[in-house]
Amino acid sequence: MTINWQVETYDSLPSTQDAAKEKAQAGAEQGLVVQALEQTGGKGRHGREWVSPKGNLYLSILLRPECQAQQAGQLSFVAALALSAVLDEYLDDKSQKILKWPNDVLLAGKKCAGILLETELSENKVEWLVIGIGLNVVSAPDIGTALQDYTDKPLILDEIRDALLDHLGSYYALWRSKGFSEIRSLWLERAHKPGTELQIKLGERLNQSYFHDIDENGNLLLRSDSGEIQVITAGDVYALSD
Ligand code: BTN
Repeated sequence: MTINWQVETYDSLPSTQDAAKEKAQAGAEQGLVVQALEQTGGKGRHGREWVSPKGNLYLSILLRPECQAQQAGQLSFVAALALSAVLDEYLDDKSQKILKWPNDVLLAGKKCAGILLETELSENKVEWLVIGIGLNVVSAPDIGTALQDYTDKPLILDEIRDALLDHLGSYYALWRSKGFSEIRSLWLERAHKPGTELQIKLGERLNQSYFHDIDENGNLLLRSDSGEIQVITAGDVYALSD
């Protein structure tokens, strides 16, 4: 099943995420993509700001996957794989890229892209799902990094966007036909290796443990020094040894 992407590009929006969610509520079809060249109120996870000057990629993608609520989070792994594939087309050295649970893409240990997944549920089924993607192409906040620093190739936003949507369509089709297990394996091949030391911020508490695996629902499995496995479904993960 291929998705017919319908891209709407705006010069400036407060947030493509809010615009796409509004259109989803109003009945827009799966495949709508809202892109803005800049955002004046870009949103990150946990209510954080996503700094969005011109030059980077900001888009929100509407899907209607008709799946159970607990499967919705699997689509952030689908989106991370699409981002990973598009970066591979540009990076001089692919080994600098790593996927970080649940949905960041790091280059040389610094965040280059983020994914924000929001859903509307009805009786435990997904009514719609909006995947917001921010990719730092030419600039990034101090704690992050931008693709431009890792490639000699020309960076043309429309081309990066179209490649991203192509890859997203392919991984989405794979998820639909094979379920999460294939996506999980592909993601694990591109993520921090088992045993990587991770610092997990849960609320205000910082925990130190080791990456072990992700389970069949995309939850993070951590191993403590004593070998105990802990399941993390939400929270912030910072990889110390990436
Ligand atoms: C994160 O915190 O890592 C997620 C960042 C998601 C940012 C994107 S940019 C396009 C879309 N519109 C928004 O306001 N946020 C998402």
